[in-house]
Amino acid sequence: MSQFDVVVIGAGPGGYIAAIRAAQLGFKTACIDAGVNKAGDAPALGGTCLNVGCIPSKALLQSSEHFHAAQHDFAEHGITVGDVKFDAAKMIERKDGIVTKLTGGIKFLFQKNKVESLFGKGSLKGRNGDLWQVEVENKGEKSVVEAKHVIVATGSVSRPLPLIEIDNVNVLDNEGALNLTEVPKKLGVIGSGVIGLEMGSVWKRVGSEVTILEAMPTFLAAADQQIAKEAFKVFTKEQGLVIELGVKLNEIKNDKNGVTVSYEVGGAAKTETFDKLIVSIGRIPNTEGLNAEGVGLEKDERGFIKVDGECRTNLPNVWAIGDVVRGPMLAHKASDEGVAVAERIAGQKPHLDFNTIPFVIYTDPEIAWVGKTEEQLKAEGVEYKKGTSGFAANGRALGLGKAKGTVKVLACAKTDRVLGVHMIGPMVSELVAEGVMSMEFSASSEDIARIVHAHPTLSEVLHEAALAADKRALHG
Ligand code: FAD
Ligand code: NAI
Repeated sequence: MSQFDVVVIGAGPGGYIAAIRAAQLGFKTACIDAGVNKAGDAPALGGTCLNVGCIPSKALLQSSEHFHAAQHDFAEHGITVGDVKFDAAKMIERKDGIVTKLTGGIKFLFQKNKVESLFGKGSLKGRNGDLWQVEVENKGEKSVVEAKHVIVATGSVSRPLPLIEIDNVNVLDNEGALNLTEVPKKLGVIGSGVIGLEMGSVWKRVGSEVTILEAMPTFLAAADQQIAKEAFKVFTKEQGLVIELGVKLNEIKNDKNGVTVSYEVGGAAKTETFDKLIVSIGRIPNTEGLNAEGVGLEKDERGFIKVDGECRTNLPNVWAIGDVVRGPMLAHKASDEGVAVAERIAGQKPHLDFNTIPFVIYTDPEIAWVGKTEEQLKAEGVEYKKGTSGFAANGRALGLGKAKGTVKVLACAKTDRVLGVHMIGPMVSELVAEGVMSMEFSASSEDIARIVHAHPTLSEVLHEAALAADKRALHG
């Protein structure tokens, strides 16, 4: 029986990074993963993120943005392209190529770092002295490996909607939404969260009529509401996404006529029939087949594996990270927990600050933030000051043809320490890193204001917002 220092279950961005870091630290490491590629004929490492999440969605967002730009933006640059055509199957083929390249890259990284990659479903069997026994099952064939430490990184799956079953033909979860090879004429989306907005944007840009039905009365409740309101206006008024808030779903039928959704909104009953319906109402932790109950691995009331602040479960030397534990369901959070756990096993003292984890929504304009929103600061009774600045007069943004959006810096009224940075605008997914760095180093808004920012760059808007927090904006 093979013995390891560390066995990781799951090779998503949490698990594969944990395995690589553990191996780098000198541990004999194996990583078990049951993921298969789109064709279903070969193992595919990388989990949700690489196969059916972050990476494929960003590939489609880029393709659809190019199509939209060729149709609507090129002309003002003096570029005539004639009749612009769109081939959805080709876009999906390009996306699949990126996925194959990156998932293959992890295989290479495992080889390079001497991580043993085991294909199959991993489950906790029990203890043999100081060691954990983990069963690996592949098409009925079972083997057992032993390890001193086990890191559970089994991720999450789409939250099901009790009203309708996902068939990934007409009613789609994230996998189906990322694999449409024809543009649906009418696309319905349940949930105006991150997936709903990103996928809704993709298919809207390439020609679908998109209606998003959201249960909450507030749009993007977790985001700073000034930014959320600006986003709502752009998405609905300028881009033509129909977003209905405060919706109560009554019935969904999937038949030869399409997918018919009956719902109530603002006291009125409505019915819409769509060619395709995406269900994106959040994700739930995945512990299926892990034998958590059998070994007494504790979960909380929502099904997440219970961990302490350092990702220790209730079982000795069993750790859990990523989407399967509390905290935001984000790839970078999963990876950083993976690194931290491997380093803790090695006796180091890593620290992961949940207050400085950045959030990004890859719509156009993008939305990004780090730290507290104004609503949170008010609720907590924290006195703060704020500075805002827009992209409208930013030279780089004008050159890019994307001069829309706002950056807001929130700082403590007494100490000037940066408490939150919120953005909507071009490439703010990159710009938010400066906010993260500032908060991580306990910077003041004055620190950002005194740092030289290159000209002309989008980062000058953050600079200006920091100046505005001190009431000395130069361009405002
Ligand atoms: P996963 O990535 O879910 O990986 C878990 C792995 O464990 C899988 O490979 C699975 O096959 C394997 N597994 C499960 N059970 C077993 C078992 N018993 N035995 C063996 N293997 C098992 N996050 C971002 O930060 N940025 C984004 O832009 C972003 N975009 C997203 C877009 C979409 C459409 C979706 C759905 C998600 C997106 N996310 C994004 C979220 C991100 O994908 C997750 O937060 C991240 O993948 C979580 O990583 P993980 O390692 O915890 O789990
Ligand atoms: P989400 O939590 O972002 O949004 C789900 C939305 O569905 C919420 O607004 C919720 O109020 C709504 N909802 C729930 N039940 C409903 C119902 N019955 N009817 C109508 N609306 C309902 O979840 P989403 O979009 O499914 O994404 C899952 C997770 O994946 C995200 O929370 C995020 O962690 C991750 N993700 C991250 C991305 C990024 O970082 N750019 C991109 C995509 C996903």
